[in-house]
Amino acid sequence: MSTLTDADTIARNRAMRYFASHERLWLFGYGSLIYKVDFPFLQRRPAIIRGWARRFWQGSHDHRGTPAAPGRVVTLVESAGAVCQGMAFEITPAVFEHLDHREKNGYLRVVVDAEFEGGAREEALVYIAGPDNPAYLGPASEAEIAAQIDRAVGPSGPNRDYLLHLADALRDLGAEDAHVFGLERAVRKQE
Ligand code: SIN
Repeated sequence: MSTLTDADTIARNRAMRYFASHERLWLFGYGSLIYKVDFPFLQRRPAIIRGWARRFWQGSHDHRGTPAAPGRVVTLVESAGAVCQGMAFEITPAVFEHLDHREKNGYLRVVVDAEFEGGAREEALVYIAGPDNPAYLGPASEAEIAAQIDRAVGPSGPNRDYLLHLADALRDLGAEDAHVFGLERAVRKQE
């Protein structure tokens, strides 16, 4: 059983010095970071990363649910051949002060290769909540995940808003994502 706590996640991310000497770096967002941009950035560009699939497998006890009734938010799961479409933001390292706090419920900074339209590639950081973090919920059926999202509410609002905003943002990007759009359809059926 992992003993990872919120504070540990912030400390572990702070200890991650990979881009510390850079004046600017790329952050790849694939969840709420696409549509809730509450941090400064120098530029943003649609991008993809390969080998990772977006899944509503991470529990949210702090934003979109409560410890007693957690919601579900996205993380990335390694998946050969998968392509995850998202938004890359060029930021300065100072922005981690805010991001590490925002992503503290189990997400760790990981270095990936982001690919932009036209094929240019840049190293980027992405926040991933792995299966060993205490808030990880893992897979469940589409109906179960949709029902959990539909009933969960946390300090940041209803869990369904997270899903519906993400689906809208992915549509704006022209992204394909059967998992997210399938859940969106299932949740909208409850309306
Ligand atoms: C991300 O958006 O890149 C990370 C997951 C989230 O904050 O929703």
